[in-house]
Amino acid sequence: MNVRLQKILSQAGIASRRAAEQLIADGRVSVNGATVTAMGTKADLGADDIRVDGRRIKAAERTRYILLNKPSGVVSTRSDPQRRRTVVELLRGVGEYVYPVGRLDYDTEGLLLLTNDGDLAATLTHPRHGVDRTYEVKVAGMPDDDALIRLRTGIPLDGRRTLPADVSVINKGRRDRDGVLLMTIREGRNRQVRRMCEAVGHPVRELRRTRIGPIQDRRLKLGHWRELRDDEVKALRKSAAPRRPRAAASPRAE
Ligand code: URA
Repeated sequence: MNVRLQKILSQAGIASRRAAEQLIADGRVSVNGATVTAMGTKADLGADDIRVDGRRIKAAERTRYILLNKPSGVVSTRSDPQRRRTVVELLRGVGEYVYPVGRLDYDTEGLLLLTNDGDLAATLTHPRHGVDRTYEVKVAGMPDDDALIRLRTGIPLDGRRTLPADVSVINKGRRDRDGVLLMTIREGRNRQVRRMCEAVGHPVRELRRTRIGPIQDRRLKLGHWRELRDDEVKALRKSAAPRRPRAAASPRAE
């Protein structure tokens, strides 16, 4: 059956629809030996030889939902032009072509989801349904109340204010020179936490993600991964569902 290429790629668990379009635009997809860059191109997975980066695409593999505790010094992409270590190298035993849901910076630690479920990945990274994420952030110096209020209410980044965030100081009242913050943000803008803290005069020294929506795991060791349980996948789907506008209160009939 002839189907649009980006749909074939996402159903085969190669990438989300949007990421698949990018793969096509980047000239990384071929059909029967010819590179395809035209977006509406259709093909038949049963009859055509479809490849991404030369690797033949097969019909859907087992759907995997992997939670990795990423160490710093590892890139959260599948490949790196600078040949740095990638998260995929940490997933020994995972044969499926899973890819990271969003990114953590090279020097950020913590929880990262990887999956070959293109639809869930697209929903989780969609700016309108994005799930909230919590970070433990060690910053230079101890932020005062004014800095905390600015972080909470929003910082202009690239001309657009960040959404309200939950920010608390974990080591308040101690004599520590540097603050350790717990920050929950509701968007995934590029280097968002680092840029927010920098903007209030407290550059980040260490950054660790401790929660992605309903998912957390304090016992997962750095550099280790595990499969999400079914109830966790369900909770994740639920938390990423588009938020419906709250129904207007209807007057009660007397
Ligand atoms: N915010 C950042 O600044 N970096 C990350 O890796 C994640 C969130």
